Amino acid sequence: MHAPALLLSLACLLHTAIADFPSPSLLNQTCDPTHDRLNPQTYRRESDCDAQTYCAPATRLCTPRVCRQPFSPGDSDLPLCPDGQFCADAGDACRKRAPAGVACEFGRDEQCAAPWDAVELAGEGNADGAVCLNFACMFANATLGEPCVFEKTDYTSVLSGAGDGSGEGSATVVNTIVRDNCRTGGLFCNTQTGACESQKLEGGACQFHRDCVSYTCVENVCRLAPETPVRVPPWQYAVTSLSLILAMAATCVMLTLMHRRHRLQAYHETRDYCYEQILLRRSILVLRDNGPVTTAGTGLIRWRQGTSSEK
Ligand SMILES: *[C@@H]1O[C@H](CO)[C@@H](O)[C@H](O)[C@H]1NC(C)=O
Ligand SMILES: *[C@@H]1O[C@H](CO)[C@@H](O)[C@H](O)[C@H]1NC(C)=O
Repeated sequence: MHAPALLLSLACLLHTAIADFPSPSLLNQTCDPTHDRLNPQTYRRESDCDAQTYCAPATRLCTPRVCRQPFSPGDSDLPLCPDGQFCADAGDACRKRAPAGVACEFGRDEQCAAPWDAVELAGEGNADGAVCLNFACMFANATLGEPCVFEKTDYTSVLSGAGDGSGEGSATVVNTIVRDNCRTGGLFCNTQTGACESQKLEGGACQFHRDCVSYTCVENVCRLAPETPVRVPPWQYAVTSLSLILAMAATCVMLTLMHRRHRLQAYHETRDYCYEQILLRRSILVLRDNGPVTTAGTGLIRWRQGTSSEK
């Protein structure tokens, strides 16, 4: 009865095992090391070999990788490189971080050795103050107004449209990323003047997101970042509070006035009723003493007279 379920879980286990330890299908296959390149659209490294192997130039064979990058989860059974060293994109060896001026791989700031004044230069856009720009290591040490080096990269991604492979309805999105060697903390490299400038505040002219403090450049104007919380100035708080208090006070005054008016109205009604009763009583007394009276009192009294005479 449980046989199908057992079979299913066995199949699942087997599948997981296979998925966890994929056989390197391209191992020992011949390859051409000159085919190693960066994809010009995604800037990912491509070669004749697969994720577990690299193309060894000496043998021209796909050879097993020896290390992995900290940020790539794919080949997780490979070791990381020790501190102070990096695993090259090919995964062929651990190497020492390169000094300024020496070649590095695209976008791999951590392949460059940090400057001696690292603490001061370290920031989000570099690795301990070192940057890899245009395949060369340098320090992010250019100050305000100094000439700077920048690297402009267009990342192209195609948003699929119809999904039938015809390319119909698909859109190409180009994301331009500019990196530079200006000091971190409010500086950017102006790609037109080639000098470091201070990042612009809201409303300032910009060319790229990084030109703005908010990192949001829309139609060449720096804007507030979409996630910026709305800040209410103190005077708006004051005006709002005052309006609320005034409105509450006005409501109270109105209610009090209305209540008073009602009470006055009720008082008048009661008083009129009392007078009427007194008058009625007097009229009855007069009527009893003097016999029928023709023109005494109000209409009510006359009506009462009428009813009493009917009886
Ligand atoms: C690949 O080649 C190496 C050395 O030539 C050899 O030791 C290894 O067994 C080969 N592996 C496979 C899967 O062919
Ligand atoms: C900035 O770094 C470069 C190396 O990228 C170095 O040659 C230069 O001397 C440094 N300048 C300053 C002011 O530290």
